[in-house]
Amino acid sequence: MSSKLDLAAIVAEVGAEVQPHRGEGHVADYIPALARVDGNRFGMAVITVDGQVFETGDAWVPFSIQSISKVFTLTLALQRHGDDIWKRVGREPSGSRFNSIVQLEAEQGIPRNPFINAGAIVVTDSLVEGRPVADAVADIRDNLRRFADADTIDVDREVATSEAQTGFRNYSLAFFMRGFENLKNPVEDTLQTYFNQCALRITARQLARAGLFLANCGVDPISGERIVSPEHARRIGAVMMTCGHYDASGEFAFQVGLPGKSGVGGGILTIAPGKAAIAVWSPGLNAYGTSQVGAMALEKLVAKTGWSVF
Ligand code: DON
Repeated sequence: MSSKLDLAAIVAEVGAEVQPHRGEGHVADYIPALARVDGNRFGMAVITVDGQVFETGDAWVPFSIQSISKVFTLTLALQRHGDDIWKRVGREPSGSRFNSIVQLEAEQGIPRNPFINAGAIVVTDSLVEGRPVADAVADIRDNLRRFADADTIDVDREVATSEAQTGFRNYSLAFFMRGFENLKNPVEDTLQTYFNQCALRITARQLARAGLFLANCGVDPISGERIVSPEHARRIGAVMMTCGHYDASGEFAFQVGLPGKSGVGGGILTIAPGKAAIAVWSPGLNAYGTSQVGAMALEKLVAKTGWSVF
């Protein structure tokens, strides 16, 4: 039980144990604006369902949310469209890299899951709904601010521009799916919205707070607001467990044993159901695009708390 754990001591220990590993992994450089981040950063924040907060390191330094935003856009899509979203996107692991196109033709433009880029682009398309890009982006940003209880969260314009200038694979995925009529809005509008959602800046502390409803059956335990139904919260957790790290999702389940979602900014959001939301940030990535020291810290935290779902 979390109440019997000395989480303050555990989180401090984890911070101290990963200290010598800071800087390991490779900072993402396929988006030029991301490559400028200091690879030695490390931060972790744990927020329990009874509202206690434990932090170590750079838990208050904003970083690029990148693919972790896909958890929150899936949440909004389930709120707005319910299970109809599953007609446009599957929920099977792809076993392929995050930006892979290989399965899309054989599977008629229906992406395997909402966390690979193709699936996330479809989910974002479902949130655009004919609105101007600025309105769709503001809507996603404002909901993330509400989930995180943090008005400072905003789009990093330089990262968003850099994403758009180098997003050739995302353009390929989007036009391909448009060809299968699985995008409803102009490709440019959906992609600009997607690039902006990935370029949101958030701290580990804010990210853990934003994901807390997923540890509490869809209800934010601090505000009391129901964000999604218990069924949808379970399903988001299931997709995080099976697809949250692309072709390394099995490895993350093996190593950490919690539903999680990584981003190439070096963040990882993990959920310990009924207990806590945990966010880590360390920019150096492993070969699969997951934060190397972040995953190491989560492995240590889970070993000390016994929070693995297995
Ligand atoms: O689509 C992209 O390339 C990025 N904006 C998001 C990629 C990402 O974070 C992949 N996850 N590890």
